[in-house]
Amino acid sequence: MSTFLRAARNITVTAAALGAAGVWYRKRAERQMSLRAQTVLVTGAGSGIGRLLAIGAAKRLAAHVVIWDINEDSARAVADEILALGVDASYDVVDLASNDSVDRAGQAVRDRIGGIDFLINNAGIVTGKAFLDQEHDDVEQTFQVNTLALYRVTRQFLPNMLRNKFGSITVIASAASLTGVARQTDYAASKWGAHGFAESLRAEMRHQGHNIHTLSVHPFYVSTGMFDGASSPNPLLPILEPDAVVATIFRALEAGKHQIVLPATAATATWLKILPVPVADQLRDLLGINSTMDHFTGRQDAPH
Ligand SMILES: NC(=O)c1ccc[n+]([C@@H]2O[C@H](COP(=O)([O-])OP(=O)(O)OC[C@H]3O[C@@H](n4cnc5c(N)ncnc54)[C@H](O)[C@@H]3O)[C@@H](O)[C@H]2O)c1
Repeated sequence: MSTFLRAARNITVTAAALGAAGVWYRKRAERQMSLRAQTVLVTGAGSGIGRLLAIGAAKRLAAHVVIWDINEDSARAVADEILALGVDASYDVVDLASNDSVDRAGQAVRDRIGGIDFLINNAGIVTGKAFLDQEHDDVEQTFQVNTLALYRVTRQFLPNMLRNKFGSITVIASAASLTGVARQTDYAASKWGAHGFAESLRAEMRHQGHNIHTLSVHPFYVSTGMFDGASSPNPLLPILEPDAVVATIFRALEAGKHQIVLPATAATATWLKILPVPVADQLRDLLGINSTMDHFTGRQDAPH
């Protein structure tokens, strides 16, 4: 056997062994969880992915589902849908950009049902504007809802999870937290912050020996209305259906996974980072990533 073939065989065997060890260790580190008889809170649950997550939790027989949204009509409507399924539900009208509003609603939830077992930080907003078209208020509000709210909301419920020695915290970030995207200097940056929050919280819980599960979710565009006008750049990155996204999130939660990228091909964004920047930029252009927001309009209808 030539030296080249021997080297290729050794590399293949080592890669396969490392891959198998990685899968074994991941399975060991993940633990199955059930939402049955647990309390669940979903932020931004009045519409889109959040609404489906709240209803999905109810269908998994959660003990109580709490809906948080700034829009009272949609929050009440989702709570009513869940009550009609025979599952306890309640809602609070919360402005996630306000410390006082989140403090008040957090206290109300603790008074009502004690604590939250599964916290799903889902609410998010997007301007879709080119950098020089963004007002400072646009940028500030984007960071308030997409990033800073994670701190305010998690602070409300983590102490009780630590006392119970059980809890799960999900952050709905974005595929835009894995790469920069044209017309997303505000949104992508806020989601990089969300990703950093989720990853650091996971690190801190492990470091301190706490049994608190965290999951960060990184979807490409989903057809909820939030990103109306944004386009799929190539067949490997299709616009996703909200029902399919939510089904995958529940599978990940129940399997105790820590991070999911949807579709899996979007994880290429992470691999591109090991390349020299000009090469990675060319590949991003070839994949069409930076044109996806060219015809963005954002939501034209009311959230639902
Ligand atoms: N739709 C997509 O293409 C897509 C892609 C990747 C990630 N995401 C992320 O998924 C999450 C859900 O997105 P969606 O598509 O369901 O959006 P959506 O617009 O349908 O729902 C967002 C919800 O958040 C609520 N909300 C907004 N600001 C709020 C505030 N200040 N306080 C309380 N509630 C507030 C809205 O009322 C709305 O009900 C977001 O974090 C979003 O960034 C969405």
